[in-house]
Order: sequence, then structure tokens, then C-alpha cells
Amino acid sequence: MKMGGQAEWLLEPKNPDELHLALMAARERGHRVRVLGAGADLLVEDGLHQGVVISTSRVDRTFRPGMVETETPFDADDESINRMAPAAGVDDPRLVAWCGASLPGLVRKAGELGWSGLEGLVGVPGKVGGAVVTNAGGRWGEIWQVLESVRVLSPAGEVIDLRRDQCNPTYRDGRLGDQIVVGVVLRLVPQTKQLVQDRARQFLLEKNAVQPVTEACAGCIFKNPDRELSNGRSAGQLIDELGLKGSQRGAALVSPLHGNFVLNTGGARSADVFGLIDEIRDRVAEATGVLLEREVRSWML
Ligand code: EPU
Repeated sequence: MKMGGQAEWLLEPKNPDELHLALMAARERGHRVRVLGAGADLLVEDGLHQGVVISTSRVDRTFRPGMVETETPFDADDESINRMAPAAGVDDPRLVAWCGASLPGLVRKAGELGWSGLEGLVGVPGKVGGAVVTNAGGRWGEIWQVLESVRVLSPAGEVIDLRRDQCNPTYRDGRLGDQIVVGVVLRLVPQTKQLVQDRARQFLLEKNAVQPVTEACAGCIFKNPDRELSNGRSAGQLIDELGLKGSQRGAALVSPLHGNFVLNTGGARSADVFGLIDEIRDRVAEATGVLLEREVRSWML
């Protein structure tokens, strides 16, 4: 969203072991800890945020089990690379992705391999960790559909591997609570490169036509409501029908293209963005009785 204040401390671990150490060090000193992926689905309040922000941007690796492929140098003795998943045969259609790996990069890699399952996430910005925490996705699929296991750090700092069937993700929520995602093992379905890449291209075209993909925004602001309550209408449609597209507060603007996006048109203050979001929610509730629930996450001081 290109908005919000500063962090008192910023830690940038470069692999899962350092992420663990960063968490423990911050906790030992009694700091509040927040984990930042790409911030693609996050609204940050203006001002100084006390405590530690751990950025996952360097915990960035995607590889096939047992086959470490890397473009950036890494420590030869960094065993955590291979501890995520044991090596398997050449036909094994699985990918290991660390939390700071880019989601678009992962979708691209799956396409190059001709492995299906991630095409529905094309065009979703962000990092793998955030995608798992928020169960990123849309009409064509969600990340948890292809997740075989996830490695998390518990609030107490234990490393825990959870199988998919031990978790209970829902619409836009991986339901992992306070646990921090370290990495995932994804199981995809081998198909042809052309088929997978064509599907991804088609989805991207459809998405780019209706969403303000090049603007500074945080994706959809609200979850889509229960279809029975809203007569089958999406959040964007409810906002649109009330003529709220184009509403503005300071530099915060409801996208004229899609009602469920708020844009930062340049230097927006967080109070304006939060104020505009609350106003939209109240107007929709008054007019339709539907109380929209926020999808984007927020960090308040
Ligand atoms: N619509 C309007 N006016 C608007 C916007 C939408 O009438 O201003 C109508 C559309 O014409 C369509 C319906 O509402 O009939 C649904 O709109 P759209 O196809 O754009 O999908 P959406 O429900 O708004 C969902 C996800 C998106 C995801 C897309 C595509 C939610 C809240 N949103 O959007 O996810 O990209 O489907 O899969 O679930 C996100 O999570 O940040 C996000 C953008």
C-alpha cells in the first residue's frame, strides 16, 4: 500500500535457522514481534511501531526436495535447506518453498515444470508465508489446496511440522493462530508446461481486466460475505451498487475499477485509509444489513 510508519527494530534473517534465532532473541528481550512478508495484504498505521519486525525477504528459496537450486549464494553448511523434505525420485512433483519465497516466482516455477495446482494464484503478490497464513487465492484456487505440510514456529519457539490434515484452513484464513510459517512442502500435479502456462495466462488476463493491478493497494479490502446474506453479491458488487467507487478521503480512493480495492494515490495517511474503509463498511451495513469483514490485516501502534 506504500503507507505507514517505521519499525523500532527490523531483523532480516537469511534462512529458517536465523529466523528461529531472531524470534528467540526478540522474545528473550521482551519485544513484541511481528513478521513481515511482502506486506501485500497489510495496512500499517503511521508512527513508530515499538518492538521487532522480522522481515522474511531473505528467507527466500524454492527447490525440489533433495535438489537445491539456488541463484543466490548460501552457506554450504546450512542444513536447514534440506530438512524441509527428504529427497525423492525425479518424478516427485513437489516443491519446497521457504516463507520468504515470492508467490509469483513460485507460480512461474510450477509453470516451467509443467506442474499444475498453483495457476489460480497467478497475479497474487506476496510471499509464501503470508499466502499460507491468509490462505491466499481466489475463484480459481487457494494455496492450501496444494499444501502437503507446513513448518511453523510456535510462540514458544518450537519447530513444528504440520500435515495438511492436521490443519483447518478456511476462506482467506490458514487458521495458524500465533504460529509463524517457516516454509511449506507443496504437492502439485504433473501436466504439460503448455497447459499449465496457458491456464495461468488466461486467469491473469481475466484478473487484470477487473482489478487495479498496477496501483498501490492491498488487494481486496473485505472478504466476500455469506452469499445468502448478500443475495449472492460480492463485497465489490455491494460497494459498487451503492455508488461508492471513486469515494475519496485525502489520498485514499475507492478504486473506480473495482469496489473492493482502496488505492493510495500518493502519500496517503493511514487515518484516511482506515477512515475510508470504516465508512464503506458502515454505508454497506446501513443500506443492506450486510456487515463486511475486513480481509486485509493491519498493524496498529
Ligand atoms: N463486481 C461489481 N462491481 C465491482 C466489482 C465486482 O459488480 O466493483 C462484480 C463482478 O462483475 C462479478 C462479482 O462482482 O460479478 C465478483 O467480482 P470479481 O470477479 O472481481 O471477484 P471478487 O469476488 O471481487 C475474488 C477475490 C479476489 C480474487 C478474485 C478472482 C475475495 C474478497 N476476493 O474477488 O481476491 O482475486 O475473486 O479470483 O475473495 C484478494 O483476496 O485480495 C483478492 C483480490
